[in-house]
Amino acid sequence: MIFKSSEEIRFMFLDFFKSKGHHVIKSSSLIPTLNDSSLLFVNSGMNQFKDFFYGFKKPKYNEVVSIQKCLRISGKHNDINNIGYTSRHNTFFEMMGNFSFSSYFKKEAIMYSWELLTSKKWFNIPQNKLVITVNSLDYETYNIWVKDINIPKENIFLVGNNNNIIDSDNFWKISYFGLCGTSTEIFYNFNDKSLKNFHNTKNSSYLEIWNLVFIEYNLNYLNKLEVLPNKSVDTGMGLERIASVLQGVKSNFEIDIFKNLIYLLYNFLGINVSIINKNILYIIIDHIRSIVFLIIDGIVPSSNDRGYILRKLIRRVLLNIKLLSIKKNFELFDLFNVLIDDIIKYEYIKNKEKLLNKIKYFLIKEEKKFLIILNKGLEILNCYLLKLKSGDILNGDLIFKLYDTFGFPLDLIKDVCNSRNINIDLHGFNKNLNIQKNKSRYYSKFNISNFATSIVCCDKTFFYGYLNINKFNTKIISIIVNNDNVNEICINQSGILITKDTIFYPELGGQRSDIGKFISKDKKSVFIVNNVKKNGNYIFHIGYILKGMFKLNDNVILIYDEYNREMLSCNHTCLHILYSSLKLLLGSKIKIKGSSIKKKKITFDFNYFKPLSEKKIFKLEYLVNSIIKKNIFINESFINDKVENNNLNLFYLKENFNRYLRFISIDNFSREKCCGLHVNNTGIINLFFIIKEYSISHGIRRIEAVSSDYAFKYFYKKRLLLNNLSKFLSLNDNFLFNGVKSIIKKFNLLKNKYKDILNIYLENLNYFFSLKECFVYKKIFFLVKDVTFLKISKNILYILLKKLIFRFKLQFILFLRKKDYIINLYFLLNSKFLKEKINIFVKKVVLFFNKENNINFNANKNKNFFYVKLSNNEFINFKLIEFIKYIKLCISGIYF
Ligand code: SER
Repeated sequence: MIFKSSEEIRFMFLDFFKSKGHHVIKSSSLIPTLNDSSLLFVNSGMNQFKDFFYGFKKPKYNEVVSIQKCLRISGKHNDINNIGYTSRHNTFFEMMGNFSFSSYFKKEAIMYSWELLTSKKWFNIPQNKLVITVNSLDYETYNIWVKDINIPKENIFLVGNNNNIIDSDNFWKISYFGLCGTSTEIFYNFNDKSLKNFHNTKNSSYLEIWNLVFIEYNLNYLNKLEVLPNKSVDTGMGLERIASVLQGVKSNFEIDIFKNLIYLLYNFLGINVSIINKNILYIIIDHIRSIVFLIIDGIVPSSNDRGYILRKLIRRVLLNIKLLSIKKNFELFDLFNVLIDDIIKYEYIKNKEKLLNKIKYFLIKEEKKFLIILNKGLEILNCYLLKLKSGDILNGDLIFKLYDTFGFPLDLIKDVCNSRNINIDLHGFNKNLNIQKNKSRYYSKFNISNFATSIVCCDKTFFYGYLNINKFNTKIISIIVNNDNVNEICINQSGILITKDTIFYPELGGQRSDIGKFISKDKKSVFIVNNVKKNGNYIFHIGYILKGMFKLNDNVILIYDEYNREMLSCNHTCLHILYSSLKLLLGSKIKIKGSSIKKKKITFDFNYFKPLSEKKIFKLEYLVNSIIKKNIFINESFINDKVENNNLNLFYLKENFNRYLRFISIDNFSREKCCGLHVNNTGIINLFFIIKEYSISHGIRRIEAVSSDYAFKYFYKKRLLLNNLSKFLSLNDNFLFNGVKSIIKKFNLLKNKYKDILNIYLENLNYFFSLKECFVYKKIFFLVKDVTFLKISKNILYILLKKLIFRFKLQFILFLRKKDYIINLYFLLNSKFLKEKINIFVKKVVLFFNKENNINFNANKNKNFFYVKLSNNEFINFKLIEFIKYIKLCISGIYF
């Protein structure tokens, strides 16, 4: 191969496709068009053509070619953490691509790429150095390579997951959702020999140089592929990568574009190349290029969105320069000044002086700000280190948190730790890093170098709760017991502690607070925090002293309950996902009308006029779970709040006396103003279920739902119930529903039969009770007849008599029976409140006879049924009919 400069490669690429009838389209700005809110930056050549792929607009030319400025620093395609650590990634790069909008498809695209790469007239790469990958479900593409191009079988590999094409290799998606299709990738093999297996890792000798994507689908929010009206082609070849092949170097940073920049950088810094860490230089150069192009495209450093990315890049350059420990004193702008001509060589700049002034203005401001922030970051690291003593190890998870969330370079952490003789848990750190990378998901655009946004202040109590440090040293500044400010609080006393700063999140915005404890350094005193409230400018920790005591100005260690916080965070993020899902399924008119986020459950109120069908509930659950499954990183951003709105019950970040509102976004799926606790990544939530949906007032419905562990618990409970039920009924799951249905049917049949029988008896009773032995007196039914002839059980008789009471609105039924010298009075009352009166009545009866009666109150006294036994030897001579006369006399005068 003959060496080709980057400039030659650019021209050849365009010329080749021009010769194939393609129209050259200029690179768009790095900022996506106004109507594209799904991307922060243009990250591939196809972005400016999205509407053509979807079929929303008709293109002027159906076959086009472009060299597009791209930035991969946020979203699904994000390379920032690879910079300097792999030779193949850059944040800013140029992507060369040819596109067909429903014109040619797989075959022509493959033929073109092969001709350009291998033909003597063009790039002239030896064919045996190229290796192809194809999605294992895309036989059409495989056959084109094998049959039309004649790729030897050892140079083509089927990759991907046959069971899940959406998340598989060689299935390209523009973002988590949207345009997508199978792809075929062309790799250059830097090794002399061909390799038996294909491993596309960052250390492998294969370099991906060209990606041909066959766009056929739209992946909707329900994770379903929708077929697009047209089939299109989108290819992308990174200029920097193909240049490394055509210039015979293994690293992007060794190609002509970077060589000169690095030379200029060395000269400027006056450092010895051999003793410095090259990775640091690569990061600096890479980021300076991105910074320049972002400023050219009109981005201003700020605390949100694109401006924040620019700020982050500037800060990363500053940090890395700090790591070089250079003696030379200079301002960051001086360095830019040296490099700028080389960087903008290929860009048309109308007024270079104006651009330089702009860069200078931004850099000076940012540098100043960053110093303050760097110190804050060091403070956080110190918080971690406070708990350790010389020789201890700083936990890898914490290091990763610092690195990932606050952008502390590992080397800086190492330096600080070394100076205190603290070792660092590199293994733990790498484990975290790999998990993150393997997921190949993006790093939150706000997760790096974001010290400023992590410390929030309620004017008086500084809130460090977003930092996820669950142990924190601070000082007690106020103690309140029984509404009085006191100097100390002792064992068993309840009260409120206020500290200078806190990591405890107070109950706010419908979300329950952190719980946990305060302990003294010597661990002898413990204050249990069972609630936290924001009160004006302070955060109140409410609880009691479990042991020991605390005094004003005491140093304390704050520890929140991690599990409680994890569950609250899962539920809060889930609530946001649920809200967006509802809007997606029921329409954008859906508004949140109230919510509560507890450890175990979420409730969400919204406006809707009718119950959600089972199908809708299922769809909703499915949608929420599909977002969870995507492992989307949660973005936290702070927007300058120009209108000071003190009514908003939110935390504000205060930085240089500016106020910021906090926004939580989940890709483009959800963006909410929110001060609550959230997980870093949706995947942590695992699972979500709706447990109830009902109306709470006119037009307002409520959803109760569970997530994470409580969703599993809910599931287990349901499964247990189902298992027990099917065991009890000896029916397996498949028959359970129909089985229970038929049991209920049988039961209802029996019930009706039983009712019929009762009715027959009742009719008979009517007849029976019409006899003269039965009569009603003062709403009391007297029953003197023996009813054994009815041949019904006592229970049935009881039910029948009760029915009789209600049918005739009787007070009670008195059932008299006499045997020899014993008279039994059976009472069946229509309410137990009559009992008192029955007592009076019975006493009267006893008095009436004025004999030494042996009176016996008996039987179910609590029920409405009981009986009284009267016995006397003289009774033997009484006829029952005479006895009734006396009874009637006794009843008169008592108002029933
Ligand atoms: N869009 C595809 C990519 O970015 C091909 O250009 O890889």
